[in-house]
Amino acid sequence: MTDADHEPSRTRVPMPIATLNDPHMGDMAKNPGRVEALIALIFVVAIVLLAGFGAAYWQDWSPWILGATMGAGLFLLGFGLTAWGKYLMPQGPFVEERHVLAGTSEERESLAAALVERSVVVVKRRKMLGGLFAMGSGIFGIVAIFPLLRSMGPVPGNTLEVTDWKKGSILVDSNGRAVHRDTLVPGGTMTVFPRGFQNNIQAQSQDQTILVRVTGGDLTTKKGREGWAPEGYVAYSKMCTHLGCPVGLYEQQLELLVCPCHQSMFNVRNGAQPQFGPAPRPLPQLPLGFNSEGYLIATAPYDQAVGPGFTERTTT
Ligand code: FES
Repeated sequence: MTDADHEPSRTRVPMPIATLNDPHMGDMAKNPGRVEALIALIFVVAIVLLAGFGAAYWQDWSPWILGATMGAGLFLLGFGLTAWGKYLMPQGPFVEERHVLAGTSEERESLAAALVERSVVVVKRRKMLGGLFAMGSGIFGIVAIFPLLRSMGPVPGNTLEVTDWKKGSILVDSNGRAVHRDTLVPGGTMTVFPRGFQNNIQAQSQDQTILVRVTGGDLTTKKGREGWAPEGYVAYSKMCTHLGCPVGLYEQQLELLVCPCHQSMFNVRNGAQPQFGPAPRPLPQLPLGFNSEGYLIATAPYDQAVGPGFTERTTT
C-alpha cells in the first residue's frame, strides 16, 4: 500500500505556477523594464556614494563629506531594496480556500515545483538587481573596515617599554630649570622631566616623574635599591599603574603619593607600594644621584615599563 491509498478523496487543486501573469504581480512587476532600470540606477548611485565614502575616509576629507556620502549611500541602498520588494515582488494578500490540511503526494510535489518556479521568477530573473545590491553591500562592508584599521593608530613598537630617561639625564622642572640638591626642603615635592624633553608633549606623559624629598637623609626604599635616593630625594613615575592618571597629590604627614582619579595611595618610603586603592603595582622608581655641580641626575633609566599594565608587559 502506498501513501496515496490512505489519502482521502478530494478535489485536486494544483498549485499555481508564478508567472508574470500571476494576479499577485502588480502592474509594474508585469512590465518591469522601467522600474528595474530605475532601481538599478539607485543602486549604482548608492555604490558610487559608498565608494566615495571610502575614498573620503582614506583621504581624510572633512567630516561632513564622510557623513553625507555614507548616509546617502546607505539610504539609497535601502530605498532601492524597498522599492524592489514593493514594485517587483508578488503582493498579497494571499488567500487559499480551506480544505483538508494534509496534502497529497501530488500536492507536495506541486508545491515544491511551485516554490522552485517562483524563486526562478522573482529572484533569478532579477540577477542584475541582486548583483548590484550585493556589490553595494560588499563595498560598504569593505569601507567599514577602514575606520577599524586606521583608528587603531600607529603600531606602538617599544614606546610603552621605554622613556626618555637615560643614565646622566639632568632633572628639570617644566620650565627647564635644573633641580639642585638645595632645591627642595624635606617634605617638598615637584614634577620633573629629563632635560630636553620638558616641552615635548609626546614625551611628557611617559617621562613625568614625581620628585619628593623625605626627611632623614639617604633612603633605601627596598633591597637592591641602595643609593637610589640620596639625601632623601626619591623619584617615582607619575603615571598611575592603575589607569595612567598623574599621581599628583602628596600627603606629607603620611608620606603617601595619592592618585586623584581613584584614590590609590603609594608609600614613598617602601618603593611606592600601593597602600590603598585599585592600583595593582608599585610606581616604578627612578634611581637618582648628583653630578659634579650638585644637580640631580638619573643614574639609570627606569628598570621597567611605566604606567598601567598592557598585554605584553613582562615586569611586575
Ligand atoms: S588611575 Fe590612579 S587610581 Fe585609578
